[in-house]
Amino acid sequence: MEQNCVGILGTGSYVPEKVITNHDLAKMIDTSDDWIVERTGIRERRVVKEGESTLDLAVKAAEKALQDAGVTAAELNAIIVATVTPDMPFPSVACLVQEKIGARNAAAFDITAVCAGFIYALATGSMFIYTGNYKKVLVIGAETMSAITDWSDRNTAILFGDGAGAVILGKTTPGYGVLSLHLGADGSGSDLLKVPAGGTRLPVSEEIVANRLHFIRMDGNEVFKFAVKVMGEAAKQVLEKANLSTDNIAYLVPHQANLRIIQSAAKRLRLPMDKVVVNVDKYGNTSAASIPIALDEAAKSGKFKNGDIIVMVGFGGGLTWGSGVVRWGK
Ligand code: UT7
Repeated sequence: MEQNCVGILGTGSYVPEKVITNHDLAKMIDTSDDWIVERTGIRERRVVKEGESTLDLAVKAAEKALQDAGVTAAELNAIIVATVTPDMPFPSVACLVQEKIGARNAAAFDITAVCAGFIYALATGSMFIYTGNYKKVLVIGAETMSAITDWSDRNTAILFGDGAGAVILGKTTPGYGVLSLHLGADGSGSDLLKVPAGGTRLPVSEEIVANRLHFIRMDGNEVFKFAVKVMGEAAKQVLEKANLSTDNIAYLVPHQANLRIIQSAAKRLRLPMDKVVVNVDKYGNTSAASIPIALDEAAKSGKFKNGDIIVMVGFGGGLTWGSGVVRWGK
């Protein structure tokens, strides 16, 4: 069987309108704009309004990506949504998206790999296209992190935001599109970043809610150390797989968790910051949505030129990480 080349045919993203600035947070918890900017680079984040959910964000990003790619919903063979904040435990957000956009010919499922989720979903979608059995796949990263954030915990409340990004995958010209992918996991670090309750081990109860166990818990320092190390390594490994080196990078599109993590990764790769796509200042950490939002914004701003080597790299709870190299263009 001849292997197809997988291209990104279009991108789209959506962030909710409601803004929470660092100054707003400083009125709610013991923190300050100066501290948050200095330690994270974040200035504000978007959050959903009442009644808005991950599905709404995902649909808006998907519709923009379809339009950008010139692909109709009926042409889609699969929808994959990376999320840890689905509308409900099941059905999947992907099934709900399928109904909303009218993708009657698509299989649909969600993927859980937290902030590395988009890269995991991109890899999964790419495999479908490689085989030649699937022609068009919609991959979405969508999160409503505000729903699982403990707004009274200053360690985490300052970091997260809501949003969605999407890409349409399809066959492309050889030499273009996804050149290599790399995924990794280390479950021994599962306690470092998690939502302890709400699953089958600790189902939601009044006691669980009173102890705030249905919100994110994080060991920030340990996650920081892991992130700095893995970002550089994962970028180098995926470049090697594509027979490329860091010198070939036109742009790095990293997971937007913390500006200091991004700067450290860039330093390890000897990459000047003007080759790094950064929007963490505007949106905070939107988990699985962060890479596709950054990718879409950079693409729409005209940053990427035909033939550019773009490296995406993400890390997150699990622990998980993933990276991908794309030659931009069709
Ligand atoms: O997608 C993956 C998701 N997670 C991450 O990427 C998180 C990675 N980690 C981080 O980004 C950083 O560890 C944080 C931003 C969470 C924390 O920054 P830090 O530079 O590691 O600060 P720290 O936790 O070492 O705390 C330093 C000080 C402490 O005070 P003392 O003990 O030195 O007196 C904290 O209590 O800053 C204090 N602090 C704060 N002060 C003001 C912690 N949070 C805040 C806050 N505002 N929000």
